[in-house]
Amino acid sequence: MPVIVESDPGTVEALSRALPPGSHAVDGAERLTAWLAHRPDEYAVVIGPGMELSEAIATCESLRLTRPMTSVVLVRKDIDTEVLYRAMQSGCRDVVLTDDANGIRAAVSRAHQLHQAFSGQGSSGPHGQLITVFAPKGGVGKTTTSVNLALALAEGGSRKVCLVDLDLAFGDVAITMQLFPSHTIEEAVGGEESMDAALVESLLTRHEDSLMVLAAPNLPDARDRVTARLVSRMLRTLRQQFDYVVVDTAPSFDEQTLQALDETDECVIIATLDVPTLKNVKVALETLDLLNIAQGHRHLVLNRADEAVGLDHEKVEQILGMPIAVPIPSSTDIAAATNSGKPIVLANPDHPASKAFRQLAVQLAEATGDEHHPALHEAAEGAARGRRMRIRRHGA
Ligand SMILES: Nc1ncnc2c1ncn2[C@@H]1O[C@H](COP(=O)(O)OP(=O)(O)OP(=O)(O)O)[C@@H](O)[C@H]1O
Ligand SMILES: [Mg+2]
Repeated sequence: MPVIVESDPGTVEALSRALPPGSHAVDGAERLTAWLAHRPDEYAVVIGPGMELSEAIATCESLRLTRPMTSVVLVRKDIDTEVLYRAMQSGCRDVVLTDDANGIRAAVSRAHQLHQAFSGQGSSGPHGQLITVFAPKGGVGKTTTSVNLALALAEGGSRKVCLVDLDLAFGDVAITMQLFPSHTIEEAVGGEESMDAALVESLLTRHEDSLMVLAAPNLPDARDRVTARLVSRMLRTLRQQFDYVVVDTAPSFDEQTLQALDETDECVIIATLDVPTLKNVKVALETLDLLNIAQGHRHLVLNRADEAVGLDHEKVEQILGMPIAVPIPSSTDIAAATNSGKPIVLANPDHPASKAFRQLAVQLAEATGDEHHPALHEAAEGAARGRRMRIRRHGA
């Protein structure tokens, strides 16, 4: 994801709006060097107007030699021939005016295309949506939500969905779906540089025709061998093959989870109605803010939303500073379905929890611009049916 170099928070915010979700900001050349040291795949550096021209030119010159695959986009309040001439000589790929959001967007998109072409990934292939399900606390319903959401997105069979178990030490996606994987993500260890569609495909376990699963390692000690870089390579490769890649995560900001969050298009955050969880979710949201992750692309799921524990939904929204996207009711049917290896959306499609998970799928399809997703049509038909029933009852 592109990195912005700018010290003024207002300008960072304005530039972020023109960039893809997951873009990061640093406040100067030194931080940029530190940031890039861990991101060999970075495709664009956007230098904001806060950096003096001579320093910006020096940064371009240095990146031209050390990172030829990373494009520099120089953003200036004014552009004259001297700026253009110096930028061109330094190897800068684009110069754009600060208030030209479309120009910035287009320049970054060109940088991405160039990087894809250089790295042989091709720019015309499909690019699926990455959805990361996260909560900073254990046992709140991440896996339940990931599994049911992935199934709801795959419903109808017209979308290819892959569910990735990134809870690398204690992942339980496979068991939740009664799968017995012959391969896991562990077998990709060491394949950072040789990752391709064939390798990833050989590690997947089929659940249903339109849902595949990348299972977590069988033993917890494999976690440390699955590097963040490997995770990144895996997710990027999967995105080329699937319409949706849903990622279940560990209950912490470990480096693999952070990598998924860093690249994610949409982030589903799970909270429950208890003060320790809400406190942790609040801190997690602040951390996501600091890292500039999924700003404007977060969906809050309130699990066990109907428990009478002295906290109402309004209070939750007030504490967390964001609206609840979908409340999921508490029900022993959910655990029973999990125990029987048939998640609730399959075991009992008319259950209120199944409807809630499908509602979440609708929201995500809408958020990702997938306006022809079958869940959207189903939701629209359901609403029309409801209206007809009300009219009939009213007329009777
Ligand atoms: N709404 C609900 N009603 C009843 N039981 C639920 C509900 N949501 C989740 N559960 C049950 O709670 C338990 C924990 O859920 P789950 O495994 O999804 O949480 P998790 O956040 O993934 O946990 P971990 O951090 O350990 O991976 C499971 O037994 C699950 O069936
Ligand atoms: Mg889990």
